[in-house]
Amino acid sequence: MEKVGVGIIGSQFVSSIHAEAFAQVPHARLVAVASPNEAHVREFAGKHQIPRWFTDYRALLDLSEVDLVVLGVPNWLHCQVTVDAARAGKHVICEKPLCLNLREADTMIATCKEQGVKLMYAEELCFAPKYVRLKQLVDEGALGKVYLLKQAEKHDGPHSPWFWDVTQSGGGVTMDMGCHAFEFFRWILGRPRALDVYAQMDTYVWKERTRGDDDATIIVNFEGQATGVAEESWAKKGGMDDRAEVYGSAGVSYADLLRGNSLHTYSETGYGYAVEKAGSTRGWSFTMFEESWNYGFPQEMAAFAACVLNDTPPPVSGEDGRAVLEIIFAAYASAALGKKIALPYTPPPEYAQRPIDIWLASRD
Ligand SMILES: NC(=O)c1ccc[n+]([C@@H]2O[C@H](COP(=O)([O-])OP(=O)(O)OC[C@H]3O[C@@H](n4cnc5c(N)ncnc54)[C@H](O)[C@@H]3O)[C@@H](O)[C@H]2O)c1
Repeated sequence: MEKVGVGIIGSQFVSSIHAEAFAQVPHARLVAVASPNEAHVREFAGKHQIPRWFTDYRALLDLSEVDLVVLGVPNWLHCQVTVDAARAGKHVICEKPLCLNLREADTMIATCKEQGVKLMYAEELCFAPKYVRLKQLVDEGALGKVYLLKQAEKHDGPHSPWFWDVTQSGGGVTMDMGCHAFEFFRWILGRPRALDVYAQMDTYVWKERTRGDDDATIIVNFEGQATGVAEESWAKKGGMDDRAEVYGSAGVSYADLLRGNSLHTYSETGYGYAVEKAGSTRGWSFTMFEESWNYGFPQEMAAFAACVLNDTPPPVSGEDGRAVLEIIFAAYASAALGKKIALPYTPPPEYAQRPIDIWLASRD
């Protein structure tokens, strides 16, 4: 295999990012895309110069030229599509969050293992150049012993209706974006065991639109005396924010992933350049450039394709996605019960289907 043959499943928001990212990976080639809406998937294939398109992802899985699939489908489909892909002998990159529940996570991990394919968990923050530099500082001891990390991702809400329907998404902003922070903490700290989780969340702004939480603060304590504080919001106006702070016994480092890498622009007319969750571009705004690269998407896809090519373990795996999902379950349980939840955490059977279920029950 000289180049890894890639199949994209999904054809909207994150799949466009996947296609653009893989186009920059010299050791990969886009072979096919699958998504149920024919007009959309045909246009997507044309736009990204992908030779084959299908409305049923199972037809894509039949292609022998596809070595690896990347999933950009709603959360509730992650498990089924991963299992089907693995049984067809394809390596899998699964977008965050890994899936809806721990039983699904175990099925995905076990099936990929049985079939001898890799399950790679797409957490792009582990590849974002600014955060990679931050981790280098931590690893070489420049900040001393890290005792506190903060990570925040905030915007004014997702673009597709399924995110707002907690039966399809599994939860609100803690599910959708808390997953970024939890893997960020684990990765920066060298993946120690999470000990306990405490969370405050509510639906502050979007009560008409969702039963999900739209703003959350989650505190995770890790083995080795380090604490992660995640701040997540679907309620914040003024465009997307992604920031981190790492505090150690010998130093501190602040990273503003987006605004710290932007032009500070004033425009009376506004401008058309689409930035993720930009809000208005009239008046003062933050104009991003190389947004996908700053987030680490091409680097992430290059790393995963290299794992397939060289048969090496993925830098972020299905097991990491499961560990993150367990923290998400514990966060909803903490907010529901008003107390710290110790890990490992197994949700009660009646609340094991989706992370948010226990929290919804506490509000009924
Ligand atoms: N890493 C990130 O920063 C990031 C950003 C956005 C989304 N995501 C994740 O990516 C996933 C997709 O999110 P999105 O924003 O692209 O959603 P989206 O609503 O924009 O797109 C979903 C796509 O899935 C397709 N789809 C639905 N059912 C399908 C099926 N049975 N077979 C094949 N395709 C099907 C839809 O047609 C659509 O193309 C989610 O899990 C989300 O959490 C990650």
